[in-house]
Amino acid sequence: MKKQGVIFIAILFMSVTLLSFKYTRKFVNDATPQHKGLNIPENVKVIIDNKCYDCHNNKSKSKKAKTKLNFDKLPSLKTHKLIGKLDNISEVVTEGDMPPEKAVKKYPQLKLTKKEVTTLKNWADNYIKELSGE
Ligand code: HEC
Repeated sequence: MKKQGVIFIAILFMSVTLLSFKYTRKFVNDATPQHKGLNIPENVKVIIDNKCYDCHNNKSKSKKAKTKLNFDKLPSLKTHKLIGKLDNISEVVTEGDMPPEKAVKKYPQLKLTKKEVTTLKNWADNYIKELSGE
């Protein structure tokens, strides 16, 4: 009986550890929905899913973040508005303003690598050109 008690507590402890691990990984698990008619290639989508989408979506807790940029709303924007958002994205990633410094400190996995910055910037810049018919 005593031995079973120890095993029970061990299992309980392991479950709690696993659950808390899952919680701290929340940024990695959320996913940007596939956008109909919106040109987001898979390699760009992966970066947005892991490093941007969690704050910039319909259900985001940060009102400020979702007002400024909401990936769920991009497909319904008029072309000139979409161009404006893409221009903002290109700018903040180039300047290193996003993800916010505070968030990166708390969740270091949010930090963009140099390659990811280039991928996001090139995508946004080329998409702007495509939309403006250049
Ligand atoms: C931890 C939450 C969080 C993450 C992750 C995040 N953002 Fe933000 N973002 C914010 C907040 C909050 C604001 C509003 C800042 C303000 O107005 O002061 C914002 C603002 C912006 C803006 C508008 C800037 C402006 O002033 O017009 C853009 C564009 C943006 N984010 C892009 C991104 C991109 C691209 C990523 C991923 C590389 C990203 N964000 C990741 C929280 C986040």
